[in-house]
Amino acid sequence: MEVSLRIKRFNPEVDRRPHWETYKVDVDESDRVLDALHLVKWHQDGTLSFRRSCAHGVCGSDAMVINGQNRLACVLLVRDVGSDITIEPIRGLPVVKDLVVDMEPFFEGYRSMLPSLITHDNPGPRERIQSPAQRARFDDTTKCILCAACTTSCPVFWAQSGGSAPRQPPEVRSPTYVGPAAIVNAHRFIFDSRDEAAAERLAILDQRTGVWGCRTAFNCTDACPRGIKVTQAIQEVKRAALGGEEGLDPPASAH
Ligand code: FES
Repeated sequence: MEVSLRIKRFNPEVDRRPHWETYKVDVDESDRVLDALHLVKWHQDGTLSFRRSCAHGVCGSDAMVINGQNRLACVLLVRDVGSDITIEPIRGLPVVKDLVVDMEPFFEGYRSMLPSLITHDNPGPRERIQSPAQRARFDDTTKCILCAACTTSCPVFWAQSGGSAPRQPPEVRSPTYVGPAAIVNAHRFIFDSRDEAAAERLAILDQRTGVWGCRTAFNCTDACPRGIKVTQAIQEVKRAALGGEEGLDPPASAH
């Protein structure tokens, strides 16, 4: 079948503002949108820029806005979007070129959540024992692949991020909402029975720039390509910040 790809292009070296270009390619309906993008790049216009790596929905590199929704191009089949496909970069992050955005503000929020297991003892050669029920408590949020589809679908993140404009230096920027993906990755450790830094993470999140920035729009849950219940995870962290989760120390600032 022939599909029409309408792609938002922007090259900061030559363009003053983004513009649209349309390409026609022949694909099978069982091909992925990523395959169609490859046909454009390899056979029609080598200047088209986009990220991809694993091409199997694992690395999280190719989140983009496809027909108005945040999707992974390597997972979405052409037959599920039809023959007219519009593709834009994900929103709320500075555009580097075409479909490539600067992910650094996203990863800055992620890193601020202390996203690794923190413990204060050393059990030596022994394992840190965890029951199946304790493991199940945070299973959903272990599925995150850091593609940014959730965070860049969030209207609060858009409003505070400065949009697609070049990024301001840190001394000029005001603190912004960390976004759903950062909270999902905090949830993954806050509810891990082996971790000992829940109170520290909750203190970071018990702010307007943390969980209280969330307005429960549910865009993040709709956008997640891994089916993570993102809004539910944020709600659980909100309850924990208020001291309403058994077995967790509330943050020092909890009301
Ligand atoms: S290319 Fe790795 S998730 Fe799509």
